[in-house]
Amino acid sequence: DWNMPDYISEAVEKIRAQVGTDEVILGLSGGVDSSVAAALIHRAIGDQLTCVFVDHGLLRLNEGKMVMDMFANNLGVKVIRVDAEDQFMGHLKGVSDPEQKRKIIGREFVEVFDKESGKLVNAKWLAQGTIYPDVIESAGKGKKGQTIKSHHNVGGLPEHMKLSLLEPLRELFKDEVRKLGVALGLPHDMVYRHPFPGPGLGVRILGEVKKEYADLLRQADAIFIEELRNTPYEATIVPGFDQDAVPQNWYDATSQAFAVFLPVKSVGVMGDGRTYEYVVALRAVQTQDFMTAHWAHLPHALLGKVSNRIINEVRGINRVVYDISGKPPATIEWE
Ligand code: XMP
Repeated sequence: DWNMPDYISEAVEKIRAQVGTDEVILGLSGGVDSSVAAALIHRAIGDQLTCVFVDHGLLRLNEGKMVMDMFANNLGVKVIRVDAEDQFMGHLKGVSDPEQKRKIIGREFVEVFDKESGKLVNAKWLAQGTIYPDVIESAGKGKKGQTIKSHHNVGGLPEHMKLSLLEPLRELFKDEVRKLGVALGLPHDMVYRHPFPGPGLGVRILGEVKKEYADLLRQADAIFIEELRNTPYEATIVPGFDQDAVPQNWYDATSQAFAVFLPVKSVGVMGDGRTYEYVVALRAVQTQDFMTAHWAHLPHALLGKVSNRIINEVRGINRVVYDISGKPPATIEWE
């Protein structure tokens, strides 16, 4: 168990010694690891760090704005935001195979990131939020979709840019990264967020991805997450159990929760009219390692409220279902 202020000052010294007066580029995804890496490196070298944030149009509601508010506005980090939604949607047009979609999103991501990074001609370092489990994993076979963390060795960038890797979180486990993030001033809710896949909503819209679908899904997903956060978790308190470890709400009591867009229409009724609209599935799981998972036994009142809100507030959705499949045999994501 390490002392956080000491840890931070040691890490800061180490980064300063490593990079000297060089410039550093970091790909900010909005996820925990790259965010904590950015905050730590910024603490060490300030304006020598430039972050590149690629918005592929498959992020959650207001995510791009939140990333910019937190890093650019609050922490004063230099962030270049690239709005690449049209480019991604263009390349995804007509593609419905899940692995094909992953490949396209990964490839375009590298393309956009490298193009933007290539403009930072003085940069000597590429920083990544690689954490200890990633190091272990890439020594093994590696799981699908880790392209964002592992693609840079360091192809695609202009020939004159020979970047060295800066990975200040390489020795840390996830819970340590989170504690470090909070100590560096990142908001608790951000640092304790559920994991979000690199291809984002691209694998939560079944089949072909369209902006219209992404917009509907973002709204439904935000309602689900808001209600999970606002619903207290009634834990059975076992005597002697660590009180701090008891989740306070259903968001913290689940490991991952999200909405999935089903591009099929079903019939509904509203007022005296018949509707014919899309379906949203809710998925919430509890797991230790994401290799196996149980569906979360969410309270019926919570599910009912989320369903009502989505159907009333999201024009274009008239039916909500809850996924009660375990992993295995189902996966956590639907694609
Ligand atoms: P599955 O669906 O395989 O998901 O049960 C297990 C965990 O991995 C995440 N996941 C991904 N993460 N790129 C990622 O960065 C991907 O392509 C990808 N696919 C699944 C998923 O969200 C869950 O946490």
